[in-house]
Amino acid sequence: MPKPQKFVFVCINQRDPSHPRPSCNANGAGDVFNALREEQGRRLATGVKIVAGGCLEACMVGPVLAVYPDDVWYGGVTEDDVPAIMDHLEGGEPVAMLEIGDAEFDLRPPEMTRG
Ligand code: FES
Repeated sequence: MPKPQKFVFVCINQRDPSHPRPSCNANGAGDVFNALREEQGRRLATGVKIVAGGCLEACMVGPVLAVYPDDVWYGGVTEDDVPAIMDHLEGGEPVAMLEIGDAEFDLRPPEMTRG
């Protein structure tokens, strides 16, 4: 099997529900991860590696994914978005409506922004 050309890191972090920051896993990241793996299998996309990982620091817009080496970040991903993301991973354009940037990394829940 050839070396993967692209990686997608999927945050599946799960915090205690009392934590002020949300958790991607509580917002469906596990289902997104499984759907990506299934779609990859259907397409025989061997050049893509799908990796489950920890917090990627944009928790307020989870589930969050990072695609490398493209340096494209996605937020608010659902299972319905998986075919379009796989199109990107197989050489298509990034899915603009899901892209997140620096502003989303600065978001904090109200209880973490008080002086
Ligand atoms: S918990 Fe997923 S980005 Fe932080």
